[in-house]
Amino acid sequence: MKKEQLTIALSKGRILKETLPLLESANIIPTEDIYSSRKLIFDTNHANIKLVVIRATDVPTYVEYGGADMGIAGKDVLMEHGGKGLYEPLDLQISKCKLMVAGLKDAPSIQGRMRVATKFVNVAKNYFASQGQQIDVIKLYGAMELAPIMGLADRIVDIVDTGNTLIANGLEPMDFIADVSSRLVVGQASMKLKYRQIQPILDMLSDAIDKRNELAKSDGK
Ligand code: ATP
Ligand code: PRP
Repeated sequence: MKKEQLTIALSKGRILKETLPLLESANIIPTEDIYSSRKLIFDTNHANIKLVVIRATDVPTYVEYGGADMGIAGKDVLMEHGGKGLYEPLDLQISKCKLMVAGLKDAPSIQGRMRVATKFVNVAKNYFASQGQQIDVIKLYGAMELAPIMGLADRIVDIVDTGNTLIANGLEPMDFIADVSSRLVVGQASMKLKYRQIQPILDMLSDAIDKRNELAKSDGK
C-alpha cells in the first residue's frame, strides 16, 4: 500500500537547533541544509515525510487546521494557542525555560488595575484570573523587559531561563506560571486518518529522547 504524505512543522529559531539532532536520531533527515536554504518546505530521507520550517507561534495553527500533520513547539506557545484540535503526545525535553511574572526590583505598590506587558496575552489573562486579579494586558512582540523600565507596564509575563535578562534590566522574577519545554503535537484529524504512519514516528522520537537522556546521564550532564 502506498504511504500517505506526512508533514511535520518545525519551529525555527532556538528550538530548531535542538530539534534537528533528535529527528536525525529518529532517522528523519532533511535532504538539504535547512540553515543555508531560503526554502520553507524540505524533503527528507523518507519519500513520504516533509518538513516545513515556520515561526514557532504559527506551528499550532498549521497543525490545528491540518496544514501540517504534526508539529514541534514550546509549551509557552501551545498554552497561548489553547491547544484546540491538537494532541500533545510527547515532551521532547528541549528548550527548557519557565513562564514567569516579573517586575522592577523594589517596584512601588500598584495603584488601580495592574498593567501587564506580554506577548502571551491569553496566558497572562488566565494566570491572573486564576489569582482572582483583573488586569489590563498590553500586547508586545519582544523585549518585554523594557516595558516596566519605560513606565509602560507594572509587570511582564515572559520566558525566563538563566534570569540574566531580568537582572541586566533591573527586574526580578515574582510569580512562577509554568515550566516550559518543547512538545510534539499532532492534529486530531491527522491522528485519526494517518495513525498507522504517525505512531512509528512517535515511537522513534520517544526512543531518541530516551537515548539522548541516557547519554547525558552517563556523561554526567
Ligand atoms: P518569534 O520570533 O516567533 O517571536 P521567538 O523569538 O520567541 O519567536 P525563539 O527565541 O527561537 O523564538 O524561542 C522559541 C521558543 O524557545 C520559545 O517559544 C520557548 O519555548 C523557547 N525559549 C525562548 N527563550 C528561551 C530561553 N531563553 N531559553 C530556553 N528556551 C527559550
Ligand atoms: C528570551 C526571553 C527573555 C530571555 C530569557 O528572549 O524573551 O528575554 O530569552 O532568557 P534568560 O533568562 O536566560 O536571560 P530571546 O533571547 O529569545 O530574545 P527575543 O525575545 O527578543 O526573541
